[in-house]
Amino acid sequence: MTSPNHGPQDLLQLVQTFIIKGDDFAAAGSVSLAIKKLLKEVGFPPEALRRVAITAFEAEMNVVMYGGGGEVSLFLAPGTARLVIKDHGPGIPDLDLAMQEGWSTATAAMREMGFGAGMGLPNIRKNSSRFHVDTALGQGTTLTADIDI
Ligand SMILES: Nc1ncnc2c1ncn2[C@@H]1O[C@H](COP(=O)(O)OP(=O)(O)OP(=O)(O)O)[C@@H](O)[C@H]1O
Ligand SMILES: [Mg+2]
Repeated sequence: MTSPNHGPQDLLQLVQTFIIKGDDFAAAGSVSLAIKKLLKEVGFPPEALRRVAITAFEAEMNVVMYGGGGEVSLFLAPGTARLVIKDHGPGIPDLDLAMQEGWSTATAAMREMGFGAGMGLPNIRKNSSRFHVDTALGQGTTLTADIDI
């Protein structure tokens, strides 16, 4: 995400980094909830806040279910929020396939809990202004998503 032009992204400042525990379904969703609460308190507009919350939740769940845990960093600049979600899990073998609606490798247990519709990554694409996935087999996955106000 480099650009010769100056834009709001040049002014991004780290607000906070949150730890996501792997395979912990009791705690799952708590990080995206904390991000939503924080942004609400600083007056982030509701419509954009909703898109941040969806993006953060879907990314958090993927780190819980597939990534073995990781972290989310929240950055802010005037007019935009950035989420950087990183794990050191197995990586995504075929990103094009993973981005397709309905594609999922969720286990039967995950599906019983209501996950595994294969809609997480497509929802992130829909709700973010820009996003990028960096993934390497055996090394992990980093998803960067910007949500403009
Ligand atoms: N961080 C990750 N590490 C490894 N694999 C991942 C990661 N995130 C997604 N995947 C892979 O991409 C697939 C699609 O992810 P997506 O979030 O779209 O759907 P899902 O998690 O399977 O279902 P849903 O999000 O609807 O509950 C997953 O089933 C998994 O195989
Ligand atoms: Mg998912």
